[in-house]
Amino acid sequence: MTSTDSNTSCQHMSIMDVSKCTTTTTAMLRTISVPIVFGLLFSCIQGNGYTPGSLESFSPLQITGLAVLHSLKSELQDRIQVPEALENTPTTEISEKTLNDDHSNLTTVHIQTSITSELNRPAFKFFSNILKHEDRGVIKNYVHNNGLGSDPSSLHFIEREKSIRFIRVENTEFIPLERDYFIQPANYNDFSGGYKRHYKLIPSDLLLGPMYSVISHFIHYHHLPENTTILVQLQSSIIRANSTKGDVTGQGIHTDGADDAMLVCVERDDVIGAENELHAALDGSQPLTKPTVLEAGDGVVFRDNQIFHYVSDAKTNVPVTRRTLILMHSPEEGNGKVNPRNNQGTRKASIRLRKQQ
Ligand SMILES: [Fe+2]
Repeated sequence: MTSTDSNTSCQHMSIMDVSKCTTTTTAMLRTISVPIVFGLLFSCIQGNGYTPGSLESFSPLQITGLAVLHSLKSELQDRIQVPEALENTPTTEISEKTLNDDHSNLTTVHIQTSITSELNRPAFKFFSNILKHEDRGVIKNYVHNNGLGSDPSSLHFIEREKSIRFIRVENTEFIPLERDYFIQPANYNDFSGGYKRHYKLIPSDLLLGPMYSVISHFIHYHHLPENTTILVQLQSSIIRANSTKGDVTGQGIHTDGADDAMLVCVERDDVIGAENELHAALDGSQPLTKPTVLEAGDGVVFRDNQIFHYVSDAKTNVPVTRRTLILMHSPEEGNGKVNPRNNQGTRKASIRLRKQQ
């Protein structure tokens, strides 16, 4: 699928989406059919019939009726520009059981009152099995069969593939956007920030299909307002038994420069290590969690402008395997501008990829 896959015509949709599209189209036809029938009846009563292109033959009332029809047609066309699947995707909430099913061996830590005051959100929260088994299967198939595209920033750590998609919150749902690059400010990433990084786009049918529930959870959990832009990343670290590299991110303890973030594990068969940690201090002096494995299906939300995160080195005993994650950050325009609400800074890196461009 190409970067134009978010085009909204029905023929590009999955079976599920086509069903939704058909429902909407039927509703629209029902909406416009009443004035059409009314207009035709009115024309018959007037005895003029309908002659396209000859406005002179219409009475003022008929012209008014046609103007209404034209307006409805324009509105219909405008609406067809909106992804049908988005318009009709039910706002399925993840069940209360899942939402409250915290990681059993972890405690949600309220590190400071000020951190939890806004919208009463804790600085972080873990969720078990937030990405369902069947959805993970569909995403894994896509990753393994199509590939995510190379991530050149991983030259200096474990090989990584990555696809991205910016989305915008609209009507509590979201719309995929077309920008295929981002610039992370060097203020937050001294290693690979400060230059434009292009990536393959995540197809819309993945976003609106198996990834929909976790994206929706991210939007609703953080109460993200209308028009917020979110960066969704699907990335896969390729871990080889014979590799000398174990670093998964190349960044150490860091912030990503957003306000809010969420990580969800899609797969990590035979991966050893790659444990997630959250910290209150950039130097690692104030750990908030013990090293925690995000098993396949597990996720964690955190306040990226309040705390720091880290992932430990990864290795494997099988020839090669993958650790695939969904990452979400908000707000994120990808334009390289510093987020005025994130002043957490970065550690100095010995290698700065922006100097090598
Ligand atoms: Fe990060």
